[in-house]
Amino acid sequence: MSVKKAVIPAAGFGTRFLPMTKATPKEMLNIIDKPAIQYIVEEAVQSGIEEILIITMRNKSSIENHFDASPELESILLKQNKEALYKKTQAVSQLADIFYKRQKNISGLGQAILEAKAFVGNEPFAVLLADDLIVSEVPCLKQLISIFEDKKASTIGVQKVESWEVEKYGIVEGTGADHKLLKVKHLVEKPLEEDAPSEMAILGRYVLTPGIFEILENTEPGYNGELQLTDALNTLSKKEEVYAFQFDGTRFDLGDKLGYLKATVTLALQHEELQDDFRVFIKNLSKNL
Ligand code: G1P
Repeated sequence: MSVKKAVIPAAGFGTRFLPMTKATPKEMLNIIDKPAIQYIVEEAVQSGIEEILIITMRNKSSIENHFDASPELESILLKQNKEALYKKTQAVSQLADIFYKRQKNISGLGQAILEAKAFVGNEPFAVLLADDLIVSEVPCLKQLISIFEDKKASTIGVQKVESWEVEKYGIVEGTGADHKLLKVKHLVEKPLEEDAPSEMAILGRYVLTPGIFEILENTEPGYNGELQLTDALNTLSKKEEVYAFQFDGTRFDLGDKLGYLKATVTLALQHEELQDDFRVFIKNLSKNL
């Protein structure tokens, strides 16, 4: 069964970026010339996703405006013969069929995913966390969908992190001969370093079977008193096979100032128009460090 629907949770206050996020959603932070969330939507589309539900909240309507058509602007760009800019601007509103739902009760990733139950129905679906930007040759979600299609089982994107970092992530314990693909035995959300079963961290990409909704509805609040997707996935892994795949690519934490800077510099060094000049600038800068 092919995966055509994706959910992007984008509620949350972005407190780590205050005061920037007082009036601007963190998902709209600019990375060169696109807001962060556009990179996430583009990864979904490049992975074969056709319908996307973005879970938003109050004060996030600029996300909807960004993916909407902008007829006045488009006609001005055409009149001024700015063909390339017109194409770039217009293409944003054509990326995919994007739906929005406002989350009223902000209480964990599990709660956000539950908001997608009616949208998803009885199909497998993808989840992309907007804070996790993954730069890779083959889109990260596409890599996971290939595993899903092969195994016909829920698949989570993971990478190894430093032992002192496990407290920030959902951590996977698994078994498997192929070191890139683990069969999940157990999952735990943000364990203490000394309690972590491994250093294999969930990094914001999932392909899930719809059975997760019933489990989420029956899951008690976990870490931080919030409904955790990781806890529901742990239950799912006892009922059906769940896999964790170490995807190829570099992941940046866009919810964090340093992660955001690293992402910006990395993408600038790959940017068609900027890369040559920016490389010279970085080289000169590093000479003086
Ligand atoms: C969420 C998930 C966690 C995952 C992380 C990846 O946590 O709950 O399991 O490892 O995203 O970024 P958050 O960072 O939203 O606290």
